[in-house]
This record gives sequence, structure tokens and C-alpha cells, in this order.
Amino acid sequence: MIEHTHPVIGPAEHEAVERVLSSGHLAQGAEVAALETEFAEVVGVPHAVAVANGTVAIEIGLQAMGIGPGDEVVVPSLTFKATANAVRRVGAEPVFADIDPKIYCISPETVAPLVGPRTRAVIVVHLYGHPADMDGFAALADETGIEIFEDAAQGIGATWRGRHVGSFGSFGTFSLYATKNVTSGEGGMITTTDDEIADIARSLRQHQSRVVRGRLQVATNARMTDVAAAIGRVQLSRLSEIQAARTRLAAEYDGRLDGSISTPHVAAEATHGWHQYTIRVPDRDVVASHASKAGVGTAIYYPTPVHMTETYEGSPALPETEAAAREVLSLPIRPDLTADEQDAVIEAVNGGLE
Ligand SMILES: Cc1ncc(COP(=O)(O)O)c(C=O)c1O
Repeated sequence: MIEHTHPVIGPAEHEAVERVLSSGHLAQGAEVAALETEFAEVVGVPHAVAVANGTVAIEIGLQAMGIGPGDEVVVPSLTFKATANAVRRVGAEPVFADIDPKIYCISPETVAPLVGPRTRAVIVVHLYGHPADMDGFAALADETGIEIFEDAAQGIGATWRGRHVGSFGSFGTFSLYATKNVTSGEGGMITTTDDEIADIARSLRQHQSRVVRGRLQVATNARMTDVAAAIGRVQLSRLSEIQAARTRLAAEYDGRLDGSISTPHVAAEATHGWHQYTIRVPDRDVVASHASKAGVGTAIYYPTPVHMTETYEGSPALPETEAAAREVLSLPIRPDLTADEQDAVIEAVNGGLE
């Protein structure tokens, strides 16, 4: 089976883990601090705060901004449910926006009509690794006074006008989950240019509750371990190699997939992080099943939009999101995919078209 994805781990990660295990210090320590410095450099911000995963990264980011009960935060529905759940978990209400079908991200045009008196912020998700329209969102923030937060869980390596995602909003968050472009097994990162937000986030990740904008924000334990950070550091040191491999695979798909297939659009202002290579085909389930029979693993992100899940029952319909959820299919783009494997993927997908 040609797996859709799996972690790509080499001897350097093994050595790094061995080094930490031998050091006698396993919890948050020097490795976490080093990863934070290195991550901040990649994103181009003064602060990166490491946490246990990308979900608590969003929760802590929201808390650090003083978001809570009575506030609304606009979010996409075509995303991993963590984005909306984090809003609910801090006591605020997510309001779902539709996507720009060209890039699958929410847009200033879809968000603007949802901004009301209780709207504090929008969380843009750089879905599949393609940046949202950061110029448009900056203009929307200026016009309406809402804050921009970035869920860049899938966004490492992606830029907008040469600036790395996660550096535009009041804060950005990343996931270092096992199948992300850069992994620490489980892990998350909060990035910000704001000294105070970084300081509050550092408190909230280790049980030092803080009052933010008059509201008590109760802290938790969201620390990353040095074992995880050591893996993450090795992975991050390979970022340009990882991104080059993914970009090469994407270009190959672009050139060789059947002309009837809708391949990913890359905005002129953007570089794609290629977390996923997601095509769109009307007969998606037929193509996926044909690929599976040919031994090719594919994945669907996301078959059920978050606003249609039980947690958010009663949310208004989102036509573009719902249409995309029926037609999107992500192909293998892990950096260790061989040329022979990619040939087989292309043959299986082209051959599955009706
Ligand atoms: C868009 C998005 N947001 C948030 C998360 C949550 O990250 P984690 O799985 O590390 O909690 C993920 C990761 O799966 C994601 O893809």
C-alpha cells in the first residue's frame, strides 16, 4: 500500500531522543527553549511559545487575548474541528464562514457580513498549507476593529508576500502532530510579535492563571516535553529539504494529472506550504475507491464540515464549504514518496475518472 502519509523519521531523531533520555531531564527545559528560538526564527517573529499540541495553542492564544463568554469569533467550517472547539472551550461562540473555493480558505468577503457587535476576532486557517488572503484580512481588521488570529497548524513553510504565515495576526498557532510537515509527535506552537501576549501564554501553559482585559483566564498544564522538542528540532532543521521535496511532488502532480481534474490554485502573493495536495473531482468517492483498489492511499479533509457536526447543530448552511467537502481528495505528498510511487498514484487517479 502506498500510504497517504506517515512520519518520516531518521537516525538524527533517534539520536536526539537518546540524548535527552540520557540527560535526565525529560520535561520542559533546554530543548523546548531551543526549539522556541529556532521556530520563532523560521516564522520571523520575536516569540514562539511551545505547548503540548496545536489545539491548546489556539485555546491559550484566545485566552491570552481575553476572549471568553459573550464573544463571537468567526472561523471556517472546512477545517479540523479544533479551530471551532477551541473557541467553544474558552466559552466564546464560533460563527462559521464560507470559503473562497479557489483556495479553500475563508475570505474577507465571506467573513465581513458575519461581523456584528459581539465579534471580537476571526481565526483564519491556512488550509492545506495555502495562506488565506492576508492583505484582505488586514483591511477587514482596519475597517471593523476585529482582531486577526491565524491557525497555521497546516501552514509551516507557507508565505504571503514573502512573510511566513503565523506572523500576521495578533497570534498564530502551529501543530507539530505526527503527520504535519514538521513533527514532534504531538506538539504546538504559539507565535506572536507581542511581548505581552507571549508572556501571558507562557503563564497560561503552566498553571499560572492571569487576568486579561478584566477577565480571569484559568491556566492549565500544556507544556511540551524536552523529548518531543528534541524530535521537533531535528525536523525543523530539515525544513527546507522537506518543503523542497513536497514542492517538487506538487509540481509533478500539476503537470501529469488529467486536465479535467481541478488541481490546487496558488495565489500570486503566496508560496504554498504543501501540507496537503488536494484535488477536486465530482466523482471523488469513485476516484478514491479506484485508487484504494490500486493500492494507493488518499484522504479526505474534511468529509463533514464542522458546522454540520452534532456539536454545532443548527448552524446556517455554507454552500461552497459543503460542495467542497463532497469533492476534495488529498493525494500522498509526504517527502519520502518515491518517483515510482508517485507514478502509481497518478495512474490510479487518472484511471479512476469516469
Ligand atoms: C487546521 C488545524 N487546526 C488545529 C489543529 C490541531 O492541532 P493538534 O492536532 O496538534 O491539536 C490541526 C491539526 O490537526 C489542524 O489541522
